[in-house]
Amino acid sequence: MSPKILILGASGQIGSELTQRLRSIHGAENVIATDISYNNIELVNSGIFERVDAQDYTSVKICIEKHQINTIYLMAAMLSATGEKFPRKAWDLNMESLFHVLNLAKEGFIKKVFWPSSIAVFGPTTPKENTPQFTIMEPSTVYGITKQVGERWCEYYHKQYGVDIRSIRYPGIISWKTMPGGGTTDYAVEIYHKAIAEKKYECFLSEDTELPMMFMDDAIKATIDIMNANQEDIKIKSSYNLAAVSFTPKQIAKSIQKYIPEFTITYNPDFRQKIADSWPKSIDDSRAREDWNWSHSFSLDDITKEMLTNLKAKAKQSV
Ligand code: SER
Repeated sequence: MSPKILILGASGQIGSELTQRLRSIHGAENVIATDISYNNIELVNSGIFERVDAQDYTSVKICIEKHQINTIYLMAAMLSATGEKFPRKAWDLNMESLFHVLNLAKEGFIKKVFWPSSIAVFGPTTPKENTPQFTIMEPSTVYGITKQVGERWCEYYHKQYGVDIRSIRYPGIISWKTMPGGGTTDYAVEIYHKAIAEKKYECFLSEDTELPMMFMDDAIKATIDIMNANQEDIKIKSSYNLAAVSFTPKQIAKSIQKYIPEFTITYNPDFRQKIADSWPKSIDDSRAREDWNWSHSFSLDDITKEMLTNLKAKAKQSV
């Protein structure tokens, strides 16, 4: 099957880079980007872009039929911090979009689905170090609840209706092209922007808050690898633990100081501290490594080098 791909939520942090990568692999004409607005100009100009609301079943279906789509990446979601401000909206967006996609797959309109889960499925009662694939999951955020419930539905649609769905639990994703929005791990992107612009950063998490993180290139690789894997190798039909690095705000600041010695960090924890405290510090992703050969490439210092180099070059271009 040669893929004809639809991306819902293509303008977001992961969606935008995933779209470009898929376009370079499969050809721009085979990757249809969609979102609720046209604000990502690069995406709109580099291939087919349609305005589609992932919560609107009819417009998703029309787009699928129009472009004869067989593969969907559902990247639209409201993340943890914004979700706490708008619990009902987060529930509606995250669950309705998933149901639409699962039902379209069940009805035979699409053959393969990618849906991201998150470390937010875990909660305060989960073991924090090297969190196992199968463990206690009592998420305390609305975002985490939607992801945990979503995982159960993905597994159910596979078992009951044979839907080919693949999913990974993303850690915090660090990238320099598109800003993240509304997450608890977003500090690990903001800090690089502030390090370049102001040489200082006030962090909304405390200095020793350790969280699992990953560079965007690794996240895109994982997403593409799991979609390319043989269906029989995808043994976990809910979602795979996925890991690369774990660090604290203090450690990321130290890594930045290797390149910008005058950089300083201060701490002023807000409501996001409680969310971060409920999540794992590190993740055991051995099942992803065994089942579909996952491996990561970027260490914290590699990420720092990539972020600072690329953000500096981008800043120069815009002068
Ligand atoms: N990056 C997400 C968040 O912070 C976690 O998956 O909400």
